[in-house]
Amino acid sequence: MHLTKEEEKMMNGKMGKASQKAMEILVALGDIYGAEKLIEISSVQIAGVSYHNLGDAGIEFLNEFAEDGHVRVLTTLNPAGMDMENWRQLGISEDFAEKQKVVIDAFSKLGVITSCTCTPYLIGNLPRFREHVAWSESSAVTFVNSVIGARTNREGGPSALAAAIVGKTPAYGLHLDENRVPDVNIDVKARLKSVSDWGALGYSIGKKAENKIAYITGIKKATIDELKSFSASLVTYGAKPLFYIRNITPEKAKKPAAKITITEDDLKEAYKAVNDEGEDIDFVSIGCPHASIAEIAEVARLLNGRKVKTEFWITTARSTKQLADLRGYTKTIEEAGAKFACDTCLAVAPLKGRFKSVATNSAKGCFYARGTNQMKTKLGDTAKCIEAAVSGKWS
Ligand code: F3S
Repeated sequence: MHLTKEEEKMMNGKMGKASQKAMEILVALGDIYGAEKLIEISSVQIAGVSYHNLGDAGIEFLNEFAEDGHVRVLTTLNPAGMDMENWRQLGISEDFAEKQKVVIDAFSKLGVITSCTCTPYLIGNLPRFREHVAWSESSAVTFVNSVIGARTNREGGPSALAAAIVGKTPAYGLHLDENRVPDVNIDVKARLKSVSDWGALGYSIGKKAENKIAYITGIKKATIDELKSFSASLVTYGAKPLFYIRNITPEKAKKPAAKITITEDDLKEAYKAVNDEGEDIDFVSIGCPHASIAEIAEVARLLNGRKVKTEFWITTARSTKQLADLRGYTKTIEEAGAKFACDTCLAVAPLKGRFKSVATNSAKGCFYARGTNQMKTKLGDTAKCIEAAVSGKWS
């Protein structure tokens, strides 16, 4: 890989240990994937923040970088293993909280904005069309590639951190035009009425277009919240982290000849696949990917004057919750007995063994609740999840 003079200096350790380590990671990655050079990036999103996933080895890795390292571009963080303020209220242990704080302190020392959200694009990390970025977390990567039309590979936590320290990433994969060509036309003949329907659509396409880039036709409108849900489930269930929807996503592409049709029956199949048997619900989770202020407003409207029977988490960015505080949504939601879980989510919080059955409006949430936390799962629209929270039953 061709390196500039400054990159050589970093590689040789003349600009500090952290820069040297970061360069070693980027060059190794570039060599594996045949990159010719590094390219400048405008922002980074780092996943792998929960102590639950990092462990003590992860803390050691971060602390080594934090000794003399500092990020060069806008860098935000994915969800952590707990709400950084209200962790006690959510049943997190003292031991876990202590370790999680050490992780966040290391990122903070590196100059990272400790935003702890998988929807950084809703709170200020919003690249422009065609800008190169280095993001990790699959839903955010898919959203930024597709809905915004910026360019990123699906980075791991270490490679994203290395890119942040150098301000560059190797030019390969989805950074290059030739790798952004769609493989298959997905013609949608099903009606999409909710974010959970979009999640089910992502499931269906992910399974049928495994490891492919989808070019989607047949859809006339989509909200940001629907596209966020779709980005999360499409890639979770198998497709590449880039899609096109004709007349909705900004990047132009030619419709591929290969075609798959998605019908109402496919959506029903998707719901069937992620809905387990049984009707008892002891946990409801809204906000995967992290809830927007519009989604929180809807939850407040549906919960107004009611009481929930189950544990109920709304996972979101802290700054989005602050807007909810100002507007009075938080008061309505908390009076109903539901809780905000800022900075975290059902996939990265240590929840295993705490709940048996979760109701959620997120198809991706079902995947992690089942796989990581061994819960039974129910997927339905937000109103249906609220009814489950109020009655403790899925009907
Ligand atoms: Fe975000 Fe966690 Fe879902 S990282 S996409 S809320 S599994």
